[in-house]
Amino acid sequence: MDLNKKYYPQSVHECILPSDLKARSRLARWVKDPSKLPNMVLFYGPKGTGKTTFAECLIDHLDLPKGYLDRWDAKGGFSRKMLDTIETRIRYRIDKDQKYVVFLDELKAETPTEIDFCEGLRSLYNIYCGKFNIHFIATTNYPEQIRAVGKGSVWDRFTVLPFESFDAQDVIGLLTNIAKQEGILASRDDISDYWEEYFPKLRLAIKDLDDLEE
Ligand SMILES: Nc1ncnc2c1ncn2[C@@H]1O[C@H](COP(=O)(O)OP(=O)(O)OP(=O)(O)O)[C@@H](O)[C@H]1O
Ligand SMILES: [Mg+2]
Repeated sequence: MDLNKKYYPQSVHECILPSDLKARSRLARWVKDPSKLPNMVLFYGPKGTGKTTFAECLIDHLDLPKGYLDRWDAKGGFSRKMLDTIETRIRYRIDKDQKYVVFLDELKAETPTEIDFCEGLRSLYNIYCGKFNIHFIATTNYPEQIRAVGKGSVWDRFTVLPFESFDAQDVIGLLTNIAKQEGILASRDDISDYWEEYFPKLRLAIKDLDDLEE
């Protein structure tokens, strides 16, 4: 049984937040009052630090009507063509009051087409974000690439939050709880040492939790 699947947070309230205090307080504020969510947010940090998980749970929490969420990721290839598709969808759906989310998972700006995409994103912000209730939620492993686009012009539009690592006590609590439910015999100290070994990769730590007993 894939433990990551089994223990995937059921709601935003079950998500482990990043250790960064500013990020924690911002995220908690948006959860409490979704009207405070900025038009463009970017979660950045290394692999497996909960960016996608938090974004998905937050979007779920927004309880958008069908058709008011579009999800795009690196597999589709961030390019001018994708940007045109996004804009067409925005124009089709746009509605003055209804919140509409465009989720850009694993954003990059390495190749010329990706850089082009990020530049175009800035134009979309300028055209739509002031007038409509549209929100871009993005994650990336490569903040320096996004920051370099157009000398920071798209970066400056984002509210940028670091997901460098999870809060350690929260992770140890979660792993202890999973171990207990799975009948894995391990003390809190064992789990604390185990997390030190896996830090900051929670996905891997959950996946290998069975090994703790061996
Ligand atoms: N309560 C929880 N809060 C956050 N993450 C959890 C929780 N429980 C389990 N996880 C797991 O932690 C992992 C977090 O990985 P996630 O894919 O969200 O990271 P990421 O930052 O998007 O990584 P990448 O940069 O590789 O895309 C997931 O496998 C998720 O299932
Ligand atoms: Mg991710």
